[in-house]
Amino acid sequence: MKFYNTIEESHLYFGDNLEVMDDLPAYSIDLIVTDPPYNFTKANCTKMYKETSKKLMSKSGLYDYDDETEECRIKSGFSKEDIYRWLNMTPRLMKKMNAYIFCSEAQVPIYAQWAEEYCCKFSILVWEKPLTIISKSRFSQNAEFIVRIYDDGTALNKLDDCDCYNRVLHYPPVVKKDHPTQKPVELMARFIRLSSPEGGVVLDPFLGSGTTAIAAQRLGRKYIGIEKNKRFYKIAEDRLKKEGVQLTLF
Ligand SMILES: C[S@@+](CC[C@H](N)C(=O)[O-])C[C@H]1O[C@@H](n2cnc3c(N)ncnc32)[C@H](O)[C@@H]1O
Repeated sequence: MKFYNTIEESHLYFGDNLEVMDDLPAYSIDLIVTDPPYNFTKANCTKMYKETSKKLMSKSGLYDYDDETEECRIKSGFSKEDIYRWLNMTPRLMKKMNAYIFCSEAQVPIYAQWAEEYCCKFSILVWEKPLTIISKSRFSQNAEFIVRIYDDGTALNKLDDCDCYNRVLHYPPVVKKDHPTQKPVELMARFIRLSSPEGGVVLDPFLGSGTTAIAAQRLGRKYIGIEKNKRFYKIAEDRLKKEGVQLTLF
């Protein structure tokens, strides 16, 4: 028998998501919408390191940039172990498993395997972006993948715009970005509208520049956002302040 806990207010946390999630109350989250790091190969990082300036490197998303020391460190890949480490913390927090997770094509089978091990259902959605680079030797990179992991019986909300139920999503990418991998607010909003109740709590443990929190705020949901990079955390804070939000920060 699950005893649901209530989270009364939205919070932004600066810190490591594993530590923060460990402190959140059990069975308190209605929905996860998140965009964890994709896999990076060390070969790519090294090539990039040689070819670009420090400023560009820090913007690329392939590096962790420390504002205080002004150092760039090559990010290690986000491995299967990393994925399992954060996902394993979610069943304790979720009222029912209900998550939308952006991932690279290579990560899709890892999330599928986790879902199977935890007896969850699994769907793959595709965000189709306008084509930018055409190559004759490989399929174009005009798609990103979102896995939905959910408990059997977790229905989607009934919405008037039937287009919401399509698995292929068409949204233009963000042009003026605050974060190298910033997602459109409307895309996060779509998942929140479909899969959380009014006033429910949305968790994003990889908040970046705060896109999920902004979407949740606009839709009258509460949010818990966690970001470990000080620069991105500050950007999220500033974006939410622009929405007119009085923030509780940790
Ligand atoms: C792909 S980005 C998210 C971008 C976000 N969707 C947006 O629209 O701005 C992933 C973020 O997760 C953060 N991150 C990575 N590992 C983390 C951890 N262990 N705890 C908290 N944040 C983490 C990174 O600093 C990065 O900003």
